Formats: sequence, C-alpha cells, structure tokens
Amino acid sequence: MRTTNPEEINFKEKFSLEGKVIIISGGMGLIGRAFTEACAQYGASVVVADIEKMKPEEHSDKLNHRFPGKILGVTVDAGKRKDVEALKQKTIEKFGRIDGLVNCHQNKTAKFFAKFEEYEDNDWDAVVETNLKGTYLTCQIIGSYMAEQGSGSIVNMPSTYSVVAPNQNLYKGTSLGCPAAYSASKGGVMALSQYLSTYWADKGVRVNQITPHGVWNNHEEKFEENFSKFSPMKRMSYNHEVAGALVFLLSEASSYVTGDNIRVDGGWTAW
Ligand SMILES: NC(=O)c1ccc[n+]([C@@H]2O[C@H](COP(=O)([O-])OP(=O)(O)OC[C@H]3O[C@@H](n4cnc5c(N)ncnc54)[C@H](O)[C@@H]3O)[C@@H](O)[C@H]2O)c1
Repeated sequence: MRTTNPEEINFKEKFSLEGKVIIISGGMGLIGRAFTEACAQYGASVVVADIEKMKPEEHSDKLNHRFPGKILGVTVDAGKRKDVEALKQKTIEKFGRIDGLVNCHQNKTAKFFAKFEEYEDNDWDAVVETNLKGTYLTCQIIGSYMAEQGSGSIVNMPSTYSVVAPNQNLYKGTSLGCPAAYSASKGGVMALSQYLSTYWADKGVRVNQITPHGVWNNHEEKFEENFSKFSPMKRMSYNHEVAGALVFLLSEASSYVTGDNIRVDGGWTAW
C-alpha cells in the first residue's frame, strides 16, 4: 500500500494467513508439526506432505477435526519429480491455489551418523537427494507455479552447519554427530535459496530461510548438558519457538523481505 501514514495500516492483520494455502514438505517432522499447527491457527489451509511411513493422511484426518476441511495429507518423496508434480496437482484440486511452500524435509538414513572416513556412497546420495534435490524439485515445480500466479512465499531450511563447522566437542560422550553429507547438502539448500530469491524477486515470489538450532526432541541428557555449555542462552530450543519466524515469512508482515535467513539459534552463531 503506497502510504506514509501508519494509521491506515492494520498491523495485526498483516500476520494473518487467512485464505492462504501452504504446502509443508516434511510436515510430519518435529518442526513440521509445529509449523502445520501454527499455520492452521493463523487461518491457512495446510498441505502436510511427507513420506509414506509417516502417514500424513492419517495425521491430517485428525487435524481436520479442529480445522475442518483445511488440512490435506499427501504422501510424497520430495526427491522424486513425479511425486512433487502430484503434490502440486492434489493441492490445486483441493484448494485451487498455492501461496506458500515450506521445505522442512530431511533424510536421516540408517547409517546417517557414520564417521566421515566410513561414509557410504548410498547414504551420501540419499541425504543429498532428499535434502538438496528435494528442495530443488519442490522449488522448481511449486515455485514456478507461484511465479506464474505472480505471488508466493518460499521458506527453506538450511542449517547452522551450512555456514560454520560443528564444534565436535558438542558430541563428546554422546551417540550423536553432524555428518558432512548433512552440512554439504544444507550448504546447497542455502545457495539455492539465495539464488532463487533474486531470480523470482520481480515475479512476486519471496524466497527466505529459517535456520533453527538444537531443537529439543528428548535428546540424550549428556547432549543437552553439552549444548547448554556452548549456547549463549544456556538451553536447547523447542519446535514451537521456530514457528513464529515462519508465520512472519509466509504472511504479508514480511512483504519486503526476500533473500533473508532468520536464525532461530539462541545466539549460537552470534559469538
Ligand atoms: N531440529 C533441529 O535442531 C534443526 C536444526 C537445523 C536445521 N534443521 C532443519 O529443519 C528441518 C526440520 O527439522 P526437524 O527436526 O523437524 O526434522 P525431522 O527429522 O523431525 O523431520 C523431517 C521430516 O522429513 C520427512 N522426510 C524424510 N524424507 C523425505 C522425503 N524424501 N520427502 C518428504 N519428506 C521426507 C521425514 O519423514 C520427517 O517427517 C530439517 O530440514 C532440518 O535439517 C533442524
């Protein structure tokens, strides 16, 4: 709106997602479930897209009791072109449009935490295929649709370890780690997001990123203890704490924000 008078603006309404249709790939995950709930509470219709074993259709049936007719579950492998094409089609058939795409899928293979020296090609390929190619495919297929429509918001999820190396002391005494395949694939997600932010800027499609960090999921006690030592806020985060940034990026409140990366990391990368 072309005005310098803030009194003409309804600021609360700017955060509304009423009438918007949002696809969340990896919507059954720890953060994806919080994203779905937040978007639905803010009035959006939400497509929960995830792999077969996560049963996104069953989850959306349950959510439809609280948000009648507004949640659609779709089984998808984000790394497969046909699946992503079908996801787009099913969304348009059900809701008639697409306003937002959120890529929060990630692939943790059976040997995900193997040492770098022993990493197997199959695992490397599977991680890269889901994390990076899956983001490329959804952006290409669904983002292009939004670019043609002339509006849309894409939110991708890289990692702290797209830009800084993990401090290996964080994992001492635990069974956890951060594999190079994860860092490398997420570095690609970051570069792709930056690229698309200017590529589609004049088509009305904004492309941003959210970088969460240390989201608590019943972690081993030792890991939580180590994490608290290195974190400026001295604690891990919760999935619901990541969702505020998403509502902002999907809503009109962020209408002039593109090419950005909101770090929800408790200051981890600030020192
Ligand atoms: N949790 C954190 O602390 C943290 C930190 C930094 C970045 N991230 C990123 O945020 C995103 C969400 O994290 P999370 O903790 O909710 O992860 P998660 O592992 O709980 O959820 C990931 C979801 O992706 C789904 N998935 C796997 N393969 C898929 C495929 N081929 N197609 C579609 N979906 C697929 C999984 O089934 C799962 O539901 C991830 O991309 C992750 O890398 C998380």
